[in-house]
Amino acid sequence: MTAAPSLPRLVMEAHGLRKSYGHVIAMDGADFELADNEILAVVGDNGAGKSSLIRALTGAVVPDSGEITLDGRQVSFRTPLDARLSGIETVYQELAVATELDITQNLFLGRELRKPGFMGMVLRQLDKKRMRNEALEHMRNLGIRVQSIRQKVDTLSGGQRQAVAVARAAAWGRRVVILDEPTAALGVRETKQVLELIRRVRAQGLSVVIISHSMPDVFEIADRIHIHRLGRRAAVVATKTVTMNDVVAVMTGAAAPDSLPTAIIHQKKA
Ligand SMILES: Nc1ncnc2c1ncn2[C@@H]1O[C@H](COP(=O)(O)OP(=O)(O)OP(=O)(O)O)[C@@H](O)[C@H]1O
Ligand SMILES: [Mg+2]
Repeated sequence: MTAAPSLPRLVMEAHGLRKSYGHVIAMDGADFELADNEILAVVGDNGAGKSSLIRALTGAVVPDSGEITLDGRQVSFRTPLDARLSGIETVYQELAVATELDITQNLFLGRELRKPGFMGMVLRQLDKKRMRNEALEHMRNLGIRVQSIRQKVDTLSGGQRQAVAVARAAAWGRRVVILDEPTAALGVRETKQVLELIRRVRAQGLSVVIISHSMPDVFEIADRIHIHRLGRRAAVVATKTVTMNDVVAVMTGAAAPDSLPTAIIHQKKA
């Protein structure tokens, strides 16, 4: 259990997560670890169980069994709100913006600021000006350019929408930001923007998990790569030590996981 002092500190860990839907096994003893202030990519074929893993880590799905720890303490999130209250923000694969609302409203969705005193506490009036100012400052800090903070999200481009979803997660995440395929269906320029945003989130001191099918994106941004296969973690590698072909070979089962140098920090003893 005790790790050498030079090893990076782990923020989140999971061991032996299982989840079945009837005969379909979504997680088959999945392990996971996320180090402090790292960008971890999770890769795997369609249906490998990546989203299921993320949903289990963030309270969107309650695993049948297994253990999840945050900062070394066991947690059992029953809802995504539980995870959010623990500082974990997630952008799920199904894009999570309310298109009929504007940018500010999206950033403060479910966390609206009320006016001080009687107006806010009794009449429950929203402090729109303060929310707009904070939204503007936040978007600026993250380097996201939009024409107006009052712009409705359905008038934004795909990349800008994605940026708003990531910005919201970055705004509220205190420990971990998890992004399930944030660059799927984005153009080259928009993808670059989202990747840059992820770097800024990490620069704020957070850890980031990104699920992606794009090997070039993964190799550009990730410190380590978690390879998921058939409902469980097959391997974790340091990006610098492997090639894209290496990763794809393990992902598809063409090569054995132990053909690659492992970068698992906390190897649980059997
Ligand atoms: N709610 C559910 N009901 C039934 N089966 C499910 C459910 N959620 C996931 N599964 C199944 O679990 C397996 C893993 O799905 P999951 O969405 O986690 O894969 P994934 O790796 O995220 O795939 P993709 O790359 O396509 O997003 C699939 O076979 C899927 O059909
Ligand atoms: Mg998925």
